[in-house]
Amino acid sequence: MTTALLPVRRLLRRGPAVVLAVALVLSAGACGKAKQAEKTQKGGTGASVEQGFKIGLLLPESKTARYERFDKPFFEARVAQLCPKCQVLYGNAQQQTNIQQQQAEAMFTNGIDVLVLDSVDTKAAASIVSSAKAKGIPVIAYDRLAEGPISGYVSFDNETVGRLQGTSLVEALKRGGDPKRGPIIMINGSPTDPNAAEYKRGAHSVLDGQVVIGREYDTPDWSNDKAQQETEQAITALGGPGRVIGAYVANDGMAGGAIAALKAAGFNPVPPVTGQDAELAAVQRIVVGDQYMTVFKPYLPEANAAAEMAIAAATGEKIPANTTKNNGTVTVPATILTPIPVTKDNVATTVAQPPYYTVAEICTPDFAAACKAAGIG
Ligand code: BGC
Repeated sequence: MTTALLPVRRLLRRGPAVVLAVALVLSAGACGKAKQAEKTQKGGTGASVEQGFKIGLLLPESKTARYERFDKPFFEARVAQLCPKCQVLYGNAQQQTNIQQQQAEAMFTNGIDVLVLDSVDTKAAASIVSSAKAKGIPVIAYDRLAEGPISGYVSFDNETVGRLQGTSLVEALKRGGDPKRGPIIMINGSPTDPNAAEYKRGAHSVLDGQVVIGREYDTPDWSNDKAQQETEQAITALGGPGRVIGAYVANDGMAGGAIAALKAAGFNPVPPVTGQDAELAAVQRIVVGDQYMTVFKPYLPEANAAAEMAIAAATGEKIPANTTKNNGTVTVPATILTPIPVTKDNVATTVAQPPYYTVAEICTPDFAAACKAAGIG
């Protein structure tokens, strides 16, 4: 394709040199387009809030409830507030790398001006990032870091998530005596998710030396079913029912699988199990004492920060951030938020609050008595 055949907007996405050449050729009458070129030189795609533009949002899976329940609607709501004429195009990859790739390509064809990407596989996502870059479309890495020339990053302090989980587990184990009196099981997240490695590192920094790690697994796809199987295997390998004294589990979905395996093996009560995400089912398990803790990551400020960054990146404004992050390719503006540990004691003051859960949702008839005992509602 020759340069002459490309629409001006595509040319604008080709980078400052082309933009400059185009700007020189443009007649004085093409004032609006020259303005766009100016914006592009600042780093945006020439999009404007006044006219509106398309924003792509790609989330990785839907077995974990947060994405459809919180991340997506919060993101859309913030975009609607800040840029009423903007349109959010959405894709959920259902944990399939190739689907995420196709969704990204469809969005490029559809003319998005910025992409917010929560990658299924951070290495595979590098090709999404580089083809976006080639088209002049900035990419904001959402929750999970992506490789390649991204423009911004929003997440939580993920090592702290792991440390909070580890610390809580050790505290719970100490309440029952020597935390080394028996083995624990460690169930980490997906090896293709950089967050999983950070949770694991944070957890090990607390657990190593304080507990006996009997079996440890990295769980492909963050699969609840695999977590259940891993727990079954570990229970058998570690001497059968009764021996295991606790489980570090990286998120709530997998905690559900681990707890099912522990119950099926006759553990009653269930020993302390950790989680993450403050999923409704996990909060209910915490209330009745089947799960010891979860880590709540306030999704509203995370989604808001991503929407704000995406709009700034597309329009060439300064990207709002509270720090920077290096992903191995570039150092970018980053907003890193603080996770909150949740046990029975603080459900009422953390997640049982708008815009998260209502007390009625948590304290359904099966959980009403436990809620009352825990002072919820
Ligand atoms: C997220 C967690 C989530 C997990 C599985 C991680 O990258 O930070 O909140 O539980 O992926 O989707």
